[in-house]
Amino acid sequence: MKKIVIATLLIAFATALLFYVFIAKPVPPVAANAQISAQSSPAVSDMSLPMPLGLKGDSGKGRIFFMGNCFTCHGIKGDGDGPRAYFITPPPRNFLLEASRQRLNRPVLFEAITNGRLGTNMPAWGKVLNNQEIADVAEFVFENFISAPQETKVQ
Ligand code: HEC
Repeated sequence: MKKIVIATLLIAFATALLFYVFIAKPVPPVAANAQISAQSSPAVSDMSLPMPLGLKGDSGKGRIFFMGNCFTCHGIKGDGDGPRAYFITPPPRNFLLEASRQRLNRPVLFEAITNGRLGTNMPAWGKVLNNQEIADVAEFVFENFISAPQETKVQ
C-alpha cells in the first residue's frame, strides 16, 4: 500500500516537472530598454543624407544653443563629459565614439533631438524648439563631433 502511494507521488512529481520544463515556459521579463532599442537606428547609417523636411541647419546658431543647453550633459567637446553627466544613467552619448560617428547622421540626429530617448535623461527637444532650431543644433553636432577630423576621434 505504502509503495503505491510513493509511486503515485513520484509520477505526479515527474509529470509536474515535465509540464514545467516543456510546456509552462516562464514569462520572459520585459527588457528595461525595449523602448530604446525599438527606437534606435541601424548600426551604420548613410552619412550623406540631408536633414529631413528639406531643412538646412545653421551650425553657428546650433553652437549657441548647444553651449547653453546640451553641454551640461554631452560636454563642450561632445565627449559626454558634461558637469551633469556623472549623475546620469545611462550616461549621455559620447559623440566622438566610432559607434556614434557611424550611426548619427543628420536624419538620426534630428529624430533623436526631436523625440529624446525614452527611459533616459535625454529630453524631447521637439517640445521647446521648432524644426529649424532642431536642424541648427543637429547640424552643429554633425559638423563638429560626428564628422570632425579623424585625429580627434576617440576609440
Ligand atoms: C539631462 C542631460 C541631457 C541633456 C541636457 C541633453 N542630452 Fe542628449 N542625451 C542624454 C543621454 C542620457 C543620452 C543617451 C541616451 C541613450 O543612451 O540612448 C543622450 C543622447 C543623445 C543623442 C544620441 C541619441 C542616439 O540615438 O544615440 C543625441 C544626438 C543627443 N543626445 C543630442 C542632444 C542635444 C543636441 C542636446 C541639446 C539640445 C541634448 N542632447 C541635451 C542626455 C542629455
